[in-house]
Amino acid sequence: MLIMQVPIRASLADIEEYKPGRLVKGAIKLSSNENPLGPSPKVQTEILNSIKSGKLNLSVYPWERDEERLKEEIAEYTGMERDNIVIGAGIDGVLDTLVKIFIAEGDEAIIPVPTFSLYESQVKIAGGKPVYTTRESDFSISVDDLIAASGEKTRLIFIASPNNPTGNCMSESEVREIAQSVPDAMVIIDEAYVEFAESSLEKQIEENANVLVLRTLSKAFGLAGLRVGYAIVPKWLTKIYKKVSMPFTVNSIALIAAMTALSDKEHLRRTVELVRRGRNYLRANMHLKVYPSQANFVLLDVAPAKSSEVYNALLNKGIVVRDCSSFRGAGNSLIRISIGTPEQNEKVVEAFIPSTGNRFLSL
Ligand SMILES: Cc1ncc(COP(=O)(O)O)c(C=O)c1O
Repeated sequence: MLIMQVPIRASLADIEEYKPGRLVKGAIKLSSNENPLGPSPKVQTEILNSIKSGKLNLSVYPWERDEERLKEEIAEYTGMERDNIVIGAGIDGVLDTLVKIFIAEGDEAIIPVPTFSLYESQVKIAGGKPVYTTRESDFSISVDDLIAASGEKTRLIFIASPNNPTGNCMSESEVREIAQSVPDAMVIIDEAYVEFAESSLEKQIEENANVLVLRTLSKAFGLAGLRVGYAIVPKWLTKIYKKVSMPFTVNSIALIAAMTALSDKEHLRRTVELVRRGRNYLRANMHLKVYPSQANFVLLDVAPAKSSEVYNALLNKGIVVRDCSSFRGAGNSLIRISIGTPEQNEKVVEAFIPSTGNRFLSL
């Protein structure tokens, strides 16, 4: 039979499918920077109670009042106003709407690499052109290089802080300089991992009309499976976002889960402490180059070995990590390992313990 295909948009030709961290049955999953404690236990109780009591009716569309309540909770959590908050199905969903708002055919977006790969594919899907700048050897961003890479067509600048997969942050003064030097571009600060970091860049939104901050409940709040994210945006953008976003993007169960998770401060505190301890433990005990991290993962350089070899060796030992060779500009010797429970972190360290005759020894 003749296989036919209807023409598709030319801009989709060189887009790669998003490759998530792998899930291998029975193995320890340290490949997607999830919360090893899971969500607050109150989340499950609240969801079940809401269904049993009839408060949560799955046959009706999510209630606008619940969306507003979630925004109020987020406003309180972030110290911003409700009109500064927009929500979506994870940061991924929020990004989808933002890129639709700002990128038309031929527009440019600056992406300092290596970083989260979705920025690049979203921009390409919209018909835009990613402009890559290379990070320094410590993965910091050269503000001068970034400003030099901008031009008349630049509409977005992506800065993940802490960055994935490198774990480092950007400073307030650097963001201010970028925002003020490129006023016709929106500076998107992705703070997916901010709860594990020392500080946030959200105050830049009050100073600059072209800065917004992305946040998620997938990491510190342990709700990756329910897909809830938000952005703190300048007020002028809120109405436009609502026009472009799909309706009901956060489902009824996710709305209840997110509100409950945000209210459990003790669970958040325990999560952050677990991650900070685990991070220090891994840095102190891995006899390899471990980059400083402000996120819930660490980045290792395993050179002269290849990241793919180390990835496979760890997989054979029942530990799934992230081989960073799939990140543009990351080379082929970087491995990212999510912080797990203390027992999981010990297993990681044991897997790297030297034994005679082999570089990674027990690997
Ligand atoms: C920097 C960064 N932003 C966004 C995301 C995706 O977040 P969400 O689960 O809210 O879509 C990730 C996921 O790993 C990430 O590393």
